[in-house]
Amino acid sequence: ELPHVSLCVVTDDFQAPAKRVLPHRFWTYTSTSANSGLSLKGNIDDWGRIKFRPRILRDVETVDTRTSILGHRTMYPFYVSAMGTMGNVHEEAEYEMIRGFVKRGLHGVISTASTKPIEGIMDCFVEEQGRLNNASPSTLFYQLYLPTSREKAATLIKKVKAAGYKGLWITVDTPVLGKRTADRVLQAREALAMGLEQDRNPERPPASENAFAPAYGGRVTPGMLSASTTWEDLGWIRELWQGPIVLKGVQCAEDAKLAMQYGCEGILLSNHGGRQLHTAPSALMTLLEIRTYCPEVFGKLEVFVDGGLRDGADVLKAICLGARAVGVGRPFLWALAAYGSRGVERCADSRSIPYGH
Ligand code: FNR
Repeated sequence: ELPHVSLCVVTDDFQAPAKRVLPHRFWTYTSTSANSGLSLKGNIDDWGRIKFRPRILRDVETVDTRTSILGHRTMYPFYVSAMGTMGNVHEEAEYEMIRGFVKRGLHGVISTASTKPIEGIMDCFVEEQGRLNNASPSTLFYQLYLPTSREKAATLIKKVKAAGYKGLWITVDTPVLGKRTADRVLQAREALAMGLEQDRNPERPPASENAFAPAYGGRVTPGMLSASTTWEDLGWIRELWQGPIVLKGVQCAEDAKLAMQYGCEGILLSNHGGRQLHTAPSALMTLLEIRTYCPEVFGKLEVFVDGGLRDGADVLKAICLGARAVGVGRPFLWALAAYGSRGVERCADSRSIPYGH
């Protein structure tokens, strides 16, 4: 018996129920991080490290949380981050996630590694929007892992465009997969268990031939993301995609400046939820660095941040420091896992300041 969804009042409250319902393997996949977890810990801790300087005796009778993301208005300055294979946590996968966040008028980014097909996700989205007739509708963006061949990339980008996604968020921090320690431990355990079983049953293939045996060369699955991608590739991507482009995974001021020079519409300061580079800077650190070394960036493109944002206070700090909006990942995934779309709605509520209050 899970606690009633209404008992989840802060985003962290979704973690325990998700852990209870998810098979151990998928719990590990969603919660894992690079190496010893310092990047992930830094993401969470850093938001608590900076403090507000509250001003008093100002008229705050009415506050307004509205903003726009790449020209698409939204009630709240946060959106649902790109997360792959939602089918691992809910059988209706991205469809169920959409049913939840569209009810709250949130925007969302769909991952290249989605369980459901690009067009099916858009159909589900359009249907939900139509049914709700929301005064502040949601928008769907697409997160791109650039395939290794240009031909495959062109086919994918054309598909995304034809389906009607409103922006391309190109993930640039994953030329090789991070060392996800918890995943590796689990896989090593499984391989070992199979090996032990094999001792008893000589008919079974050796553990090393099993798909779950640890076989880490470092590269991500071929075809998912091209490791030879450079700034120059933005040129031909631009020819295929005329809509806005956001670079997801910018982690220093120099690259923020380059993104500006290459005409990107946005950058997302992110270390991939602490899953990629060990001791990567948190988005907050990168945000502060950009404010110091190239503040002109904020006037030229939209700056987004993600990683470890768990509370309205975190979101507000990011906005105060110049971010346009923030992405939230794991809390939404855990809410989906435990409670489906109702959980996703509830998760959105648990961080938001009701408009006009
Ligand atoms: C991710 N993230 C991610 N990013 C991306 O560009 N493509 C993807 O397919 C995925 N998949 C994915 C799966 C899971 C299980 C997680 C937890 C994360 C990273 C994601 O977009 C985002 O950067 C972080 O999740 C934000 O950090 P928090 O909010 O999870 O702390």
